[in-house]
Amino acid sequence: MENVNTLVMNNALKIDTIRSKIEVWKNNSKIDENLYYFLLASLIEAADKVANTASVYGAYLKHLKKSAQKPLLLRPAHFDTSGENHKVYNEDVNALITKIEGDILYMDPPYNHRQYGANYHILNTISRYDEFEPKGKTGLREYTRSPYCRSREVLEAFEDLIRLANFQYIFMSYNNEGLMSEEQVKDIMSKYGEYTLKTTQYQRFKADKTENRKHKATSTTEYLHILKKSH
Ligand SMILES: C[S@@+](CC[C@H](N)C(=O)[O-])C[C@H]1O[C@@H](n2cnc3c(N)ncnc32)[C@H](O)[C@@H]1O
Repeated sequence: MENVNTLVMNNALKIDTIRSKIEVWKNNSKIDENLYYFLLASLIEAADKVANTASVYGAYLKHLKKSAQKPLLLRPAHFDTSGENHKVYNEDVNALITKIEGDILYMDPPYNHRQYGANYHILNTISRYDEFEPKGKTGLREYTRSPYCRSREVLEAFEDLIRLANFQYIFMSYNNEGLMSEEQVKDIMSKYGEYTLKTTQYQRFKADKTENRKHKATSTTEYLHILKKSH
């Protein structure tokens, strides 16, 4: 057990050492912004591979799982490159939607109440590398709460987004266990144009123990909601 603890400690030290070095290189202008983010992405992927969690960081496991006992290996993150130009935004989608337009809008919003800021906070901490006051057993940091993870806010946020979207086609992935029902999505989208739905059965992703889960089915119905918007 001592060896295992040493290994975990070594992984934590490695993550911190690599992270500090990336910051030093950036501050000394040894690396440009592209390389800075590439190295950060590589570190975050490497750290995630040895995390002792049930895939999200809302809680850690009491016993060390096999993958968390392996030494951290820093590998270059895989990138698909193309000759096209791309823009990446990091902001609230309901604010962003008023500033962009296009032919196709594809959306993959959160399905349930699990806030991403709370469930991936360790990765945000590695990325930001800032000072903050950790809260609770898992060292949670302050995070933005999304209306897409709140049953009382999701419908209004979603309708707002659809109404404001300056796109010809809108596609949205969702499933039958989401905060919005199939009917609710259909009712909202249908107000803004021609609506269609595609469905497929999907093997459930088991991140936690079956007995603790609210939904016990072995598969879910995945939806692709489609709207041809009439402007
Ligand atoms: C199901 S995940 C999308 C995963 C992504 N398609 C991928 O393959 O990596 C939902 C994402 O929506 C983001 N999100 C939640 N609420 C948001 C909001 N109001 N504005 C922008 N992004 C939001 C979450 O942080 C999360 O990254």
